[in-house]
Amino acid sequence: MSGPMRRPDAGLPEAAAHEIPTGREARRFDGQTVIVTGGASGIGLAAARRFAAEGARVVIADRDAAAAARAADGLRAAGAAGAAGAPCDVADEAQVRACVAEAVARFGRLDVVVNNAGLMVVKAIPDLTADDWRRVLAVDLLGAFFFIREAFAAMRPGGAIINVASVHALETTPQAAAYAAAKAGLVSLTRSAALEARARGLRVNAVLPGAVDTPMLWDNPNVRAGLEVVDRAAVGTPDDVAAAIAYLASADARFVQGAALVIDGGRLDRLGG
Ligand SMILES: NC(=O)c1ccc[n+]([C@@H]2O[C@H](COP(=O)([O-])OP(=O)(O)OC[C@H]3O[C@@H](n4cnc5c(N)ncnc54)[C@H](O)[C@@H]3O)[C@@H](O)[C@H]2O)c1
Repeated sequence: MSGPMRRPDAGLPEAAAHEIPTGREARRFDGQTVIVTGGASGIGLAAARRFAAEGARVVIADRDAAAAARAADGLRAAGAAGAAGAPCDVADEAQVRACVAEAVARFGRLDVVVNNAGLMVVKAIPDLTADDWRRVLAVDLLGAFFFIREAFAAMRPGGAIINVASVHALETTPQAAAYAAAKAGLVSLTRSAALEARARGLRVNAVLPGAVDTPMLWDNPNVRAGLEVVDRAAVGTPDDVAAAIAYLASADARFVQGAALVIDGGRLDRLGG
């Protein structure tokens, strides 16, 4: 291993300037079509930008139609080969089917799906309702399943699916029961889907981010109230996760199947104190 040794509590290495290389070697997705769910904000938007910078045509599938359209406009203005906003609630089977059909009709093929849309309900167990559970499971777990099922039908061999889970799938904190269970379910679904994907020439993998600098992190009511203190030195950028997603989607990862890649700057080791 190269690079200086760091004390474990010294924070993250200096963030690299997030200049995306523009050489031919960095255009791993030329001619490909990528759907990013929840692509209008945070990690999804960073992934959409990364795929576009590497040559892909990108469909931003988001429940927030206006934000999805704005994000697609931004990608086109930055020189994307193609970009479209697709209003889509991932929890709605019919909308997912329509989104995949629209992507294929518009761009001719589907190569990558990033199941990134997610939400978190922060409540103690006595306060969690059945509706809270249904909402979280419907978006964070079933939504990914709906897209995987459609992608299996639409993708040609070489296609890749990346599920955005969370370190909460492995170690969690109080007041995150539904979210942690949904993300653990998503890691399990990744394994199951990977088994069936292999025979189709497809790959399915997951990333498990730690704390990442997005609205979801700072909107967490416990973080806002100061009940959960987030050490800023241990917070990653959306680009940190996007880079890992792009790797798993690329031919560089052709031998990576069913993996659960933790992207957390070492935070998992410290969760739970
Ligand atoms: N930010 C973190 O610290 C962190 C850590 C671990 C995992 N994650 C996961 O990363 C993913 C992205 O989170 P983020 O932090 O970028 O959040 P974010 O709130 O910035 O963005 C989430 C996006 O998903 C969209 N969305 C929500 N529900 C949807 C639905 N039903 N259908 C379609 N789109 C929907 C929202 O409109 C928004 O554009 C989530 O799955 C989240 O659980 C985030």
